[in-house]
Amino acid sequence: MKLLLVVAAALVDADNRVLIAQRPEGKQLAGLWEFPGGKLDPGERPEDALIRELNEELGITVKAPCLAPLTFASHAYEEFHLLMPLYVCRRWEGFVAPAEGQAIRWTRARDLRNFDMPPADAPLIAPLIDLLG
Ligand code: C5P
Repeated sequence: MKLLLVVAAALVDADNRVLIAQRPEGKQLAGLWEFPGGKLDPGERPEDALIRELNEELGITVKAPCLAPLTFASHAYEEFHLLMPLYVCRRWEGFVAPAEGQAIRWTRARDLRNFDMPPADAPLIAPLIDLLG
């Protein structure tokens, strides 16, 4: 089974709310709400990939020390097995501005269960509730 490494972030604002983004039409799992992030380029380190993706997708600048690893998703999709570390990030530069037309929401961790998420993302909710309430 092919392994796919994807890195994701829980951006947390001053009110302890978490950002989720809706996967755009035309992508796999379109319409589902996910933690922003993406695949590593060849040779790229996970934190560098996440910093790049957050800049490309949301227009913000994150510094590596502001990324704190929280938990790790492991989910077998039909075509690949996804491994996905989740980092918590409370500090960034710039304003969140979705660059690819994605809808975004800021939500309490305990309200994340109200959103349809990819099966790999759903198990990440409980550790976020433990952290953020
Ligand atoms: O975002 P991208 O399409 O590059 O991600 C590759 C695959 O990883 C998706 O098709 C999806 O199956 C999975 N994924 C996920 N949860 C995320 C991001 C990606 O399950 N937050």
